[in-house]
Amino acid sequence: MNFALIGYGKMGKTIEALGKMQGHCFPVIIDEHNHDQLNSATLKGIDAAIEFSTPTTAPGNIRACINIGVPVVTGTTGWNEDLSEIEAYCKEKEGSLFYSSNFSVGVNILFALNRKLAEIMDQFPEYKVSINEVHHVHKKDAPSGTAISLAQQILEVNRQISSWHLKEGNDPGKAAATQLPIEAIRKGEIKGQHSIIYESPLDSITLSHDAHTRDAFAAGALLAAAFIKNKIGVFGMQDLLKF
Ligand SMILES: NC(=O)c1ccc[n+]([C@@H]2O[C@H](COP(=O)([O-])OP(=O)(O)OC[C@H]3O[C@@H](n4cnc5c(N)ncnc54)[C@H](O)[C@@H]3O)[C@@H](O)[C@H]2O)c1
Repeated sequence: MNFALIGYGKMGKTIEALGKMQGHCFPVIIDEHNHDQLNSATLKGIDAAIEFSTPTTAPGNIRACINIGVPVVTGTTGWNEDLSEIEAYCKEKEGSLFYSSNFSVGVNILFALNRKLAEIMDQFPEYKVSINEVHHVHKKDAPSGTAISLAQQILEVNRQISSWHLKEGNDPGKAAATQLPIEAIRKGEIKGQHSIIYESPLDSITLSHDAHTRDAFAAGALLAAAFIKNKIGVFGMQDLLKF
């Protein structure tokens, strides 16, 4: 298939390398220096665009793809406040959008386990839940989009807590009893580690995922791009993996 890459940083380059090994072509590559080329003439003949840019540029890039009529897969995180508006815009324009805060199949298995564990733990209020995430030092947003997704899944079922709270630096941050604390650590070149921890005075239970390579995200993004070709609507990993 012919894919356009929007954002040619660490993820864009990883997707290109893996996609070429799978037989896909990337005739259009758009990055900061040539973002004015995101138009219908450049994207002619493109089956889907794959967007991994920055929190400030993603909403505009996605809107442009919807306006042009090219299905768009985006994995950029850190723009949650615009997500529902963009989803509504996509539906109104009968466009095609696939968003996931994490395209790794392993993390999506973690999401399913996280939901199930949250249901069970709601019966055991003596356990206090928290989330810990570790990423490379270049990451622009905190907490990670994946940590926010994990927190939202817990908030949907846990009757003790009503919001999440980001711990700032080494400051314990004093999360209120009704808040789920998220610790975001930036260290070296770590691809992405997430843990959900339930602590009681007697013991602790931890679910965790550690991404070894960016290929884990790239493979999912390529599957999503093949999936949305010729589809109309708003999609996520639940539609692709069906568990
Ligand atoms: N959903 C997932 O599975 C997943 C996995 C890894 C990373 N991410 C997220 O994807 C995003 C990109 O990650 P990365 O590691 O590749 O970052 P990166 O900083 O290496 O690359 C971002 C690229 O976007 C480019 N850019 C800036 N302005 C642009 C514009 N207007 N149009 C197009 N490109 C523009 C930059 O020049 C840069 O090359 C981040 O938000 C990150 O958190 C998501």
